[in-house]
Amino acid sequence: MCGQQQILTLVQLAQKQEAGNPEEAAKAYLQAADLLLEQSQDHPAKEDEYITIANKLYLKAKKLRNKTFAGKLLAPKDNKIGFKDIGGLEELKEEIRFKIIEPFRNPELFNYYGQQAGGGILMYGPPGCGKSLIAKATANEAQANFIHVKGSDIKSKYVGETEKNIAELFQKAREAQPTIIFFDEFEVLGGDRTEAYAHERSAVAQLLTEMDGVDTKNQQILLLAATNEPWSIDPALRREGRFGTSIYIPPPDTEARKAILQLQLSNRPTEEIDYELLAEETVGCSGADLKSVCEMAAAIPLKESFITRNRRNINQEDLETALGKINSVLKQWFRKAQEQVARRRLEESFPELVLGAEQLAITA
Ligand SMILES: Nc1ncnc2c1ncn2[C@@H]1O[C@H](COP(=O)(O)OP(=O)(O)OP(=O)(O)O)[C@@H](O)[C@H]1O
Ligand SMILES: [Mg+2]
Repeated sequence: MCGQQQILTLVQLAQKQEAGNPEEAAKAYLQAADLLLEQSQDHPAKEDEYITIANKLYLKAKKLRNKTFAGKLLAPKDNKIGFKDIGGLEELKEEIRFKIIEPFRNPELFNYYGQQAGGGILMYGPPGCGKSLIAKATANEAQANFIHVKGSDIKSKYVGETEKNIAELFQKAREAQPTIIFFDEFEVLGGDRTEAYAHERSAVAQLLTEMDGVDTKNQQILLLAATNEPWSIDPALRREGRFGTSIYIPPPDTEARKAILQLQLSNRPTEEIDYELLAEETVGCSGADLKSVCEMAAAIPLKESFITRNRRNINQEDLETALGKINSVLKQWFRKAQEQVARRRLEESFPELVLGAEQLAITA
């Protein structure tokens, strides 16, 4: 009976936290619901009863999450991230301007020249290299509302719930036009159906239905998706008119690394820094790695000042010290990418991943 006691404790905890901390309360309700589902399998006689209660708990969690989840719409005036905050990647910004922002702002012109506007765009690439940042900045540049949803937020193991979440999401987007819906961790939602359980497949089906229902001539809704497992995205979703356009977001090159370091240090007190040198020394680092380097470097004089009571500026040596501690995941990711792409024979779809893996191996 210890399982039941645990469920009871979780529900009580959730009830207490409903007002003050809805996110934690939702989590506890979900945990309780999961445990109940497990128990229902061990107690066939009570299976229906347990499932009914589990569903009720699930709905409670969903209601609490809704306050934060589907309502998380960022208006352009509150979106402070723009292209100016993205270091380097100038060609990519141009590409996004041409493929996303201009068609979105000026669909009539694109139609005039017979260019298809709308549909969805899939961004893929290694972790920490700016996919989420670029999505947010794109919404700002396009002066669109921005809804950020993670695959794990809307994916539910309860039959029918994922579809309902997707439908609600599109409804919200329609009410708020112009809107960019950004599906983060897209592989969770749009993973290859051949590898999924039957009821999980319907999430992709629902997504396809909603996407096909977006009338690009009359509706200002754009879908952006991001993944760092592009090889596992359902091919049906990569077809023309859906996520037919993909954009590879590469690791930052030398120029981009320099720009990211400058951005990250621009609001901190520094000595003269040799950015050229640092950019050379950070081959194989992601943007997120560079951000960590700057944070760690700044912590050095900060900690010193507790003792010396003297505020000195961040210097080159601090940055070099911080850099020595970074353990980038890029190489590991490219190795995995190479393996997965080869296993599924997708070399033609993702040539950059093969090339990226080769390049990193050379500099190893
Ligand atoms: N080009 C860039 N310019 C400025 N900052 C960057 C850049 N790329 C990454 N960063 C920094 O790294 C952080 C992580 O980037 P972001 O979250 O956009 O990566 P991601 O590609 O979405 O990663 P994941 O696949 O893990 O979700 C950003 O918040 C930003 O601070
Ligand atoms: Mg991201």
